[in-house]
Order: sequence, then structure tokens, then C-alpha cells
Amino acid sequence: MADDFEPKILGILCNWCTYAGADLAGTSRIQYPPNVRVVRVMCTGRIDPSFVFEAFSLGADAVLISGCHIGDCHYIAGNYKARRRIALTRKVLEGYGIDPRRLKMTFVSASEGALWAEVVKDMVNTVKKLGPSNVQKKTNLAAGHAAAGAADDDLAEIAKASAGKKLEAAPVQKK
Ligand code: FES
Repeated sequence: MADDFEPKILGILCNWCTYAGADLAGTSRIQYPPNVRVVRVMCTGRIDPSFVFEAFSLGADAVLISGCHIGDCHYIAGNYKARRRIALTRKVLEGYGIDPRRLKMTFVSASEGALWAEVVKDMVNTVKKLGPSNVQKKTNLAAGHAAAGAADDDLAEIAKASAGKKLEAAPVQKK
């Protein structure tokens, strides 16, 4: 494996816990690899498996999903649902010949900036060992995007689109 391979990892983070934890890591100046492009959703329960498949088809080498600890979801059961969905999604990926280690779900709270840094380091090391994903090369969708030379921009587009949908669909938080 080329030593200079730097994985592109899409991070989909819950607003209330991991996104805040990642922010804390930044404001605390904790050093960790810059390989994760972050999309914020209001809850991991909002994450549709299609986000994962599209990320891979657009050139992501891995997808890291992270939210509140079990029992701490601000929408009660969103992370339980996400955990089940992600487990199933990993099986689907495996069925398509994609190593399921390329999709990971973790639980990081708003006060766990140091843990977030460790999660990212661990994921980057795992994906570096796995090497680049070849999913994009195999898909027509990705071929179109690759022709436009916009794989990196596409990850940002997914982020924007996903965030927009999330805001519309997020459950109203009761006071
Ligand atoms: S609000 Fe964080 S996982 Fe549901």
C-alpha cells in the first residue's frame, strides 16, 4: 500500500453529541488526522443507508457515523435505530464485496473531544491498511462525477443536501 494514501472519510455526526465533541477537540487544540469531512445531522436516527451508499459511490474510502451514547439520544431512540440500520448496512456492503470495516458507528458525547480524536485516528489507521475504496470505479454514478473531476466537492454536496433534509425532517424537541 502506498504510504502516501490519505483516506477520504465521510463523517456523519449527531448535532448534540459528537459534533459538539469534535468541536471541543478543535477548541482544545487536540491533534488528529484531517481525513474526515463532517456532515452534521440532528440525530443519527436521521441517517438513511442511502447516504452511506452514495458516499461510497462518490469516492469516499469510508464512512464514520457517530452520535450520542446509548440512552442519551435527544430524540429518545434515534441512536438505537441507527445502530440497527448501520449493522444491516454493513451486511449489505459486505454482500457487495465492500469491507464492512469501511463503515463504523461510534458514540462520542459533547464532553469527549479526546475520544473523538482517538476514534478518528483509529478509523484512519484502519482505512489506510484497507487501502483506497474501488467502489467509485465500479459505479456509473461515480463515473459521471469522476469525469467532472469533482469527487471531493461531491462529498461536500452530500453534506449540504443531507443537512438540509435533516433540518426539514428533524423531530421537534419538546421543552
Ligand atoms: S440526538 Fe444524538 S444520536 Fe440522537
